[in-house]
Amino acid sequence: MTTETPLKAALVTGAGSGIGRAIALRLAADGYPVVANDLNADTAEAVAAAVRAAGGRAVAVAGDVSSEADVDAAVAAGREAFGTVGLLVNCAGHVHQGLFETLTPADFDRMFAVHVRGAFLAMRAVLPAMLEAGEGVIVNVASQLGQIGGVELVHYSGAKAAIIGMTKALAREVSSRGVRVNAVAPGPINTPLVQALSEDWRARKAAELPLGRFGEPDEVAAVVSFLASPAASLFVGQTLGPNSGDVML
Ligand SMILES: NC(=O)c1ccc[n+]([C@@H]2O[C@H](COP(=O)([O-])OP(=O)(O)OC[C@H]3O[C@@H](n4cnc5c(N)ncnc54)[C@H](O)[C@@H]3O)[C@@H](O)[C@H]2O)c1
Repeated sequence: MTTETPLKAALVTGAGSGIGRAIALRLAADGYPVVANDLNADTAEAVAAAVRAAGGRAVAVAGDVSSEADVDAAVAAGREAFGTVGLLVNCAGHVHQGLFETLTPADFDRMFAVHVRGAFLAMRAVLPAMLEAGEGVIVNVASQLGQIGGVELVHYSGAKAAIIGMTKALAREVSSRGVRVNAVAPGPINTPLVQALSEDWRARKAAELPLGRFGEPDEVAAVVSFLASPAASLFVGQTLGPNSGDVML
């Protein structure tokens, strides 16, 4: 008989929809207690309820990841419910399209506030306890557009590239102290975010994918599950690409 140490809690930001929702459900199925953050309190609660209905443990915490107070509250709620947060998945995000000459400083600031500041704040909030414990995992959801750039998405592509850079830099600092930091850079995935992009863009994109189809949120969640697991012990500062073959590195 083996006695396994129970998994520490996973904080998933943007867990109310799409990829974040799939990640929360997958990690719960893997055995993690889940702290489901989202800007939308109803969807955060719905995913936590779905986890509980499936026999898992979850709490919902509404909050904006670009707010230091909200992020700290999410981490505190996780600690109160489950002791400690041992896994952080930064998934909260939004997309907005516009030719570069139409983008405003406000568009840019919001994009970087949610994606870059949000990931920074959450990593900052969980890291001290992870370092003290000598273990922890962080997975940041970037995008292949942070690797290759996307037309009408200069601010989004820049924010996603920044996430990849932060992932590498933090991984260099903390991996020898037991904390693994990696990223995923999905290609087009069937979620409400992609449905919000123009039909023209979606048709062109689907036609050029080697796999011939967009991915499903579960297929990204499987990669996050792997990166979180001990099977990924040698993955440090990497960016894995569940992208239908759109980007081959
Ligand atoms: N769908 C894709 O094709 C795709 C591809 C690559 C990367 N991504 C990234 O994956 C992540 C999830 O995207 P998705 O497609 O599942 O989108 P989605 O719109 O279905 O889900 C995003 C969730 O994040 C939440 N959110 C937005 N801003 C927030 C904030 N400030 N604080 C907390 N929560 C916030 C939203 O309420 C929503 O529930 C995003 O970071 C996105 O950039 C998506």
